[in-house]
Amino acid sequence: MDHFLYKNGALHAEDVAIADIAAQVGTPFYCYSTATLTRHYQLFTEALSPLPHLVCFAIKSLSNLAVLKTLADLGAGMDVVSAGEYLRAKAAGVPGDKIVFSGVGKTREEMQLALTGGIRQFNVESEPEMRALSQVAHGLGLIAPITIRVNPDVDAKTHEKISTGKKGDKFGIPISRAREVYAEAASLPGLEVVGIDVHIGSQLTALEPFETAYLKVAELTHALRADGHNIRRLDLGGGLGIPYARDNSAPPLPMEYGEMVKRTVGDLGCEIEIEPGRLISGNAGIMVSSVIYVKEGEDRDFLIIDAAMNDLVRPAMYGAHHDIIPLIEAEAGAEQRAFDIVGPICESGDTFAKGRNMPPLTEGALIAFRSAGAYGAVMASEYNSRPLVPEVLVRGDHFAVIRARPTFDEMLSRDTIPEWL
Ligand code: LLP
Repeated sequence: MDHFLYKNGALHAEDVAIADIAAQVGTPFYCYSTATLTRHYQLFTEALSPLPHLVCFAIKSLSNLAVLKTLADLGAGMDVVSAGEYLRAKAAGVPGDKIVFSGVGKTREEMQLALTGGIRQFNVESEPEMRALSQVAHGLGLIAPITIRVNPDVDAKTHEKISTGKKGDKFGIPISRAREVYAEAASLPGLEVVGIDVHIGSQLTALEPFETAYLKVAELTHALRADGHNIRRLDLGGGLGIPYARDNSAPPLPMEYGEMVKRTVGDLGCEIEIEPGRLISGNAGIMVSSVIYVKEGEDRDFLIIDAAMNDLVRPAMYGAHHDIIPLIEAEAGAEQRAFDIVGPICESGDTFAKGRNMPPLTEGALIAFRSAGAYGAVMASEYNSRPLVPEVLVRGDHFAVIRARPTFDEMLSRDTIPEWL
């Protein structure tokens, strides 16, 4: 469920007409709903109650400070994967003891930043990383709380580019070697083992791969405790999928996910952490664009729009589907026509949809890409020297620009021409 609905035939975000935002901000832009973000965060906290738990929002999915502050004010923790994300979490007011640091390639500088700024735990992904963290923490006279990310060799049955828990993926240590690696962790100075971490992929549409992985983690918890480790937290990662197309069979709900978590790891006496990104932010955002030209081609017609793959790369990168709807609701029974919906960028990959049925649209018509909140704005670039797409946050009947579109001068002024030229 989200809060982007037609009211009197005009698409609204909560109580704001999207066309009013477009008139002020220009297109393309991203628009987020506070009510949807809040609802999705709360679904997870409700689903995991009464287990002790912390929902750590995966910042990588949507990292605007206003969004992070919205979630932080609700009590959310954050999952970060870089110094930049760590600093964003801090800037949004998240205390260090609610920030978990994930990622396969944390640098020593990043470790130092988080250790001195405050951190809940590092999710360590390899032995070299573990040894580096030990040195950095020990050198600073500090203790780094750690989990070790295990790779359970489970097929997440999702897109190959976002599957992370199979043997051969770059993530985590093989679960079969976990006891050995935990033993080394316990022997190193500057480290304190606090738990186990697992994350098997993103946009999962079934519970079964999670369940298989979590049962392996439960078994490992017993084994590691028997080895003398104080396993008191389980970080179960993110990855629960969202419905991208309305005709799709819907992925499991957070409540069903929560039941499965309780069934698999609920009786271990551990604090549960999860790292959802997409389920909180995905359907809380749309990207709004306008039609530049309706081009009649030889064997197909094109809607050429003012958003492009640099603004929303998911269709080009993963062949992802986004529902695309007009801002003015089509009349019931209105005739539909198939279009290829494309951006202005000079490559054929700049295609959002092929043969998509749309109601009649003319130049200047406004359209919205649904489910664009996650991995939308954060993956945007300035390819083709198109200024970075702006972001807007709606709450109730008002909205704010939470990242302005750079002017051309701002964009150009970031380059420097050396004096010898
Ligand atoms: N935790 C870790 C360690 C992760 O690597 C990820 C996502 C998450 C949590 C959050 O997963 P989520 O709940 O959002 O599925 N750009 C791709 C998705 C990449 C996901 C990367 N890791 C896309 O647009 O589909």
